[in-house]
Amino acid sequence: MPNTVLMGAQWGDEGKGKIIDVLASDVDIVARFQGGNNAGHTVKIGDEKYVLHLIPSGILREDQCCVIGNGLVVNPIALLDEIAEVEKSGKSVKGRLFVSDRAHIVFPYHGAIDAAREARLSDGEKIGTTKRGIGPCYGDKVSRVGLRAGDLVDDEFPTLLKSRLDEANRVLVALGGEAIDEAALLEEYTAAAEKMKEYVADTVTMLNSAISKGESILFEGAQGTMLDIDFGSYPFVTSSNATSGGACTGSGVAPHRIDQVVGVIKAYTTRVGEGPFPTELFDEDGQEMGRVGSEFGATTGRPRRCGWFDAVVGRYSAMVNGVDFWAMTKLDVLDGFETLKICVAYECDGKRYDNMPASTRVLEKCTPIYEEMPGWMSRTDNVTAYDDLPEKAKAYVQRLCELTNTKLGILSVGPKRASTLRIAL
Ligand code: GDP
Ligand code: IMO
Ligand code: MG
Repeated sequence: MPNTVLMGAQWGDEGKGKIIDVLASDVDIVARFQGGNNAGHTVKIGDEKYVLHLIPSGILREDQCCVIGNGLVVNPIALLDEIAEVEKSGKSVKGRLFVSDRAHIVFPYHGAIDAAREARLSDGEKIGTTKRGIGPCYGDKVSRVGLRAGDLVDDEFPTLLKSRLDEANRVLVALGGEAIDEAALLEEYTAAAEKMKEYVADTVTMLNSAISKGESILFEGAQGTMLDIDFGSYPFVTSSNATSGGACTGSGVAPHRIDQVVGVIKAYTTRVGEGPFPTELFDEDGQEMGRVGSEFGATTGRPRRCGWFDAVVGRYSAMVNGVDFWAMTKLDVLDGFETLKICVAYECDGKRYDNMPASTRVLEKCTPIYEEMPGWMSRTDNVTAYDDLPEKAKAYVQRLCELTNTKLGILSVGPKRASTLRIAL
């Protein structure tokens, strides 16, 4: 397979983990390029369910190498737990999992600052973060006071951490939190550093050498376009570039070495956390989507907000990411809906918006302009070829592609590997 970026086109949880696992059989390396353990990527293999937060979803294949790129923020305690979890299921990560020495390290003060900031915000201002310390860790990176995986495994680490903790604790206490105990923190993190040594590597050189040798890389995005720090519904976003451009800056691989972009998009829309969501449903249809689609956060367990497909989001995502084709997921969740609505544009203060407005204040006031299509009212989860789908289901999928100016390459009709239909492009 050519070097491929796979990213989320909506507000995350599009089913990226499932599609990565399917495509991973055709590549040599799967590399995450941004985010941290705020992500929750679910892979179902037979009766087993795996939820990966930091480890790339290629780890469940046998031979693929997995890289945690420089663009991530890594909580080593969480990573070591996740490694233990994967190994408990009989899959070995030894010699095939690498963490960039340039990736930033998440410390407990990041999580505590994240929680303290959220606690101080009023309703309507809260972001609804995962409280994993993602924003404060990226903040330290940009402020040039962060510590990286290369620092963690360096002999100087205790000194570096001590000097960093002083300022972090002052911030934490000023925000109403409790200072972190230095001795306990050092003990926990120096023990983790020892265990991390075998994974920390120069992944920038590793990835580029692999491409030069003719190996192929699948870049695994986390979150989604509408949660991207630049292109999402700011400030209700995460703190990294979840769009395809992030694959270059978050891995050290240059743009011309990337061959294609696959956008993962749900056949409807969900969002977890706060922030504007024009097609959100508050009625029985929304509850039905949540129930049939098991829409609960894979990281925090929070119920996801559900709504109709938003073609403004889809069109915008296709443009910003340069999507070559969609991997559309969860069509089966819509099997029992008599009528389906699709948002084709927004209206705000008498003005029509065909394109995504930058202002969250505008987006909050936008109401969807819908068109309706008849549902197919029959099961699709047992369909194994695109041509065998009900005609009305094909018409719905084709309309979504038409409205978002993007071809369909993969259609997913269930959580397992077998429920994946490939469409000849
Ligand atoms: P990610 O964060 O993008 O990897 O997505 P999550 O794993 O957080 O959420 C997607 C959920 O939908 C998971 O529970 C998947 O097992 C499930 N899933 C993925 N594709 C399909 C599909 O086509 N149909 C159904 N019913 N479930 C799916
Ligand atoms: P995957 O990779 C869905 C949301 C949080 C919150 C906002 C900021 O599984 O698709 P953060 O903790 O990142 O500072 O929270 O972003 N969020 C996600 N929503 N899927 C995710 O990841 C998410 N990661 C963060 O709910 O609204
Ligand atoms: Mg998820």
